[in-house]
Amino acid sequence: MWKGRFQEAASGLLQDYGESVSVDWRLFDHDIRGSIAHARALSVAGILTPEEFCAIETGLLEIREDIAEGRFEFDPELEDVHMNIEAELTRRIGPLGARLHTARSRNDQVALDLRLWMREAIEETREDLRGMQRALLGFAGRHADAVLPGYTHLQRAQPVLLPHHVLAYVEMFERDSGRLGDCARRLDVLPLGSGALAGSTIALDREAMARELGFSRVSQNSMDAVSDRDFAIEAASALAVLGMHLSRLSEDVILWASAEFGFLRLSDRHTTGSSLMPQKKNPDIAELTRGKTGRLYGNLVALLTLMKGLPLTYNRDLQEDKEAIFDSFHTVRSALKIFAEMMMAAEFDEERARAAASDPNLLATDLADRLVMGGVPFRHAHEIVGKLVALAAARRLPLSGLPPEDCLAASPLLTPETIQSVFSLKAALEARTAAGAPSPQRVAERLAWWNELLSA
Ligand code: ARG
Repeated sequence: MWKGRFQEAASGLLQDYGESVSVDWRLFDHDIRGSIAHARALSVAGILTPEEFCAIETGLLEIREDIAEGRFEFDPELEDVHMNIEAELTRRIGPLGARLHTARSRNDQVALDLRLWMREAIEETREDLRGMQRALLGFAGRHADAVLPGYTHLQRAQPVLLPHHVLAYVEMFERDSGRLGDCARRLDVLPLGSGALAGSTIALDREAMARELGFSRVSQNSMDAVSDRDFAIEAASALAVLGMHLSRLSEDVILWASAEFGFLRLSDRHTTGSSLMPQKKNPDIAELTRGKTGRLYGNLVALLTLMKGLPLTYNRDLQEDKEAIFDSFHTVRSALKIFAEMMMAAEFDEERARAAASDPNLLATDLADRLVMGGVPFRHAHEIVGKLVALAAARRLPLSGLPPEDCLAASPLLTPETIQSVFSLKAALEARTAAGAPSPQRVAERLAWWNELLSA
């Protein structure tokens, strides 16, 4: 495009190697919005007449429509989305198109486009997170009284209500949304006007461009503005953490859907069969989501590594940022959508889970707490109950089924009445009344709280 100092065209290999339009064409809408704001500022500054501005704006809007309708063919020889659009504009409106790039560089242009794109992607991802939270809330609400064992070390630990387990993820996704929101606030800065690195001798009204493009601030250092991508790293990091949460949920789903647990039935629509084993019904969505977390971490590490050691200001390395960012948003958004759909169609086997949660050993701590309430130091109480657990196991009895003499021998506080009252699943849950604990009352309150928040 700019032959200038060059007497030879770039090698075909360089053209292939250097093109980015196959990736960055996705910025076309943002690029055109940015170009219109820039052209308007040029006309206010007297570089373009009002008529020239109108011709440029109309030309750009027509190109945008053609691209959106799939009538536009990007040319990799023109390297990137910016040059494709500018070349097309010049082809359509003539030499006037060559005035658009006054006081602008692709360096501030691409920094702008990426910020605009990410601003929308973050909003959309936060909407998807809402959808996911609603799906989980619906699932929890359909099984509001279900109990299951809570696990530590993947060993049955203490009984919990299903909504308590599910709402743990709703809390995580809320923090993920908050992290993305923080990122959006920091990227809300207009880089346009920074030029290649040192602004321009043609001063444009940057505040007006910021208003037109919906930014609250303009960047205060042109070298920083064209060359940092910390905002992209922040988003990739927030998305990696989100992916980690999705992966943990995936693991719970995979375990629950196994015959060993048998807590969860996924719909036929959200499972796959085996090409060999006719009986199989596999939780592929959860497995794929767990697996895709790897690329989210990879994209974050790619961006961090990409930036490390780059001297100020723009370096072509930065062109590599977009693939990672686009991929992270795409990966997370598709995972959230399909996961939400899967959870809306999933059913919890309340009977199976209640049977698992009814193992009296899960209330061994509650038994120790009774001794504490009778004045026994907790460490001693722990030991007394531990011995009873071992005794029951040796005799193949449930902890609640030991003969009264054995209990009384362990501690005079362990009367048959105490034993009977401790080993009630209902009473055990009802006793967990502190904020954040899974008493039915607390869980119902939190469910209602989320319902209200998420229906807004
Ligand atoms: N395609 C380039 C990128 O994504 C646009 C900026 C090019 N700037 C330059 N000085 N070569 O980073």
